[in-house]
Amino acid sequence: MAVYKIKDVSEKVGVPVSTIRYWQKEFSEFVSPVRTKGGQRRYTESDMGVFSSIKEILRENNKTITEAKEELRRNRKSSRQIDWANQTILLTGGTGSFGRHFCKVMLKKYKPRVIRIYSRDELKQYEMRQEFGEEKMRYFIGDVRDVSRLRRAMEGADIVIHAAALKQVPACEYNPLEAVKTNIHGAQNVIDAAIDARVKKVVALSTDKAVNPVNLYGASKLCAEKIFIQGNAYSKPDGPRFSCVRYGNVIGSRGSVVPLFIKQKNNGKITITDKRMTRFWITLDQAVELVVSALQHMQGGEIFVPRIPSMRVVDLARAIAPECEIEIIGIRPGEKLHEILITEEEGRNTIKYNGMFVIMPQFSWWERTNYKNAEKVPEGFHYTSNENEEWLRVDDLKRIISRGIKMN
Ligand SMILES: NC(=O)c1ccc[n+]([C@@H]2O[C@H](COP(=O)([O-])OP(=O)(O)OC[C@H]3O[C@@H](n4cnc5c(N)ncnc54)[C@H](OP(=O)(O)O)[C@@H]3O)[C@@H](O)[C@H]2O)c1
Repeated sequence: MAVYKIKDVSEKVGVPVSTIRYWQKEFSEFVSPVRTKGGQRRYTESDMGVFSSIKEILRENNKTITEAKEELRRNRKSSRQIDWANQTILLTGGTGSFGRHFCKVMLKKYKPRVIRIYSRDELKQYEMRQEFGEEKMRYFIGDVRDVSRLRRAMEGADIVIHAAALKQVPACEYNPLEAVKTNIHGAQNVIDAAIDARVKKVVALSTDKAVNPVNLYGASKLCAEKIFIQGNAYSKPDGPRFSCVRYGNVIGSRGSVVPLFIKQKNNGKITITDKRMTRFWITLDQAVELVVSALQHMQGGEIFVPRIPSMRVVDLARAIAPECEIEIIGIRPGEKLHEILITEEEGRNTIKYNGMFVIMPQFSWWERTNYKNAEKVPEGFHYTSNENEEWLRVDDLKRIISRGIKMN
């Protein structure tokens, strides 16, 4: 953790050392400098952020010390409980499977001020407008490859959720430069635009395929993850915070195996690449709640991973089409037998927190005050789809499918 002398803090915040000393005494409940062996105070990034906020409240907003304390207390509380009614959210890839479901849940349960959809295809936006209306929704045509359009779309936004991506493995293999432009350059543009537009929190959606990737989709999402986490290095203490969520296959999302098996069922034959194959499975509801939880708890630089069950692809085929013949067609290029959500190396920085795993950043930009009571995972911990403790069996899958999977 980087620590600073009082002289550095004074320089960075732009007030004399004596003022920092005075504020330190007055606002002692908000700043917690560490002591060197010689007893001298050293300040963290988080202290630096607090001093900048104090300066802003006292000098720029002309408040008294008591009012400033009240405002800091309010801010500390709201960093966990988001005041949704006052949030403007921009959602890249808002017309996709995740995006549509996110809007449904948000409008019903959390009721943000407005959600801005950002994507390329006008037909999908037209269809969304029919379903969601315009009262709380705005529809921006734009490409994540276009940073100036992103900047304009983010003006006045509090939260950005970055879901836009090229995500079909074969399409990314065949059009590698297009995957790089959308998934990597697009992520960079989102970061740049969010910093310029002074957005508060930005969460990007990542995938288990980004972990030890074997295809270009996964590799491009790994780069996107890395630049998102490191995006915090470009942001000021009062600038946007960047974090990621990382999860496995979404049951029933566009292009997933469930719609494929349902289609194949009519021909009497299901094709499976390898009998041993396992996958993590998450519902759209769980994916949306994971993003909400990440927004509530993030301090910047974390990767939030849900605790979700695994399943054997063969069991899914049996659940959807028990009467069908199963044809084994061999593992495809760029496909893994099992997926990984957390590697052993990442396990060293992982905690169990609020029903999730949180992979902490290796560089610490600010103090991790939200995680003080979190439990560390055991030595050697890793999280893979074949060694999961929780499994969906054929009957569970039948039940889920008969309830009707939400498919967009
Ligand atoms: N589905 C899964 O199983 C799964 C699992 C883990 C993680 N994820 C991640 O979750 C995110 C959302 O996935 P999803 O299932 O909702 O995908 P999806 O249904 O394919 O939707 C993708 C969205 O991105 C938009 N988009 C694509 N290229 C764009 C560009 N260049 N500029 C702006 N918008 C663009 C698409 O709209 P237009 O085509 O109109 O632009 C669409 O709205 C992705 O980042 C994906 O990697 C998905």
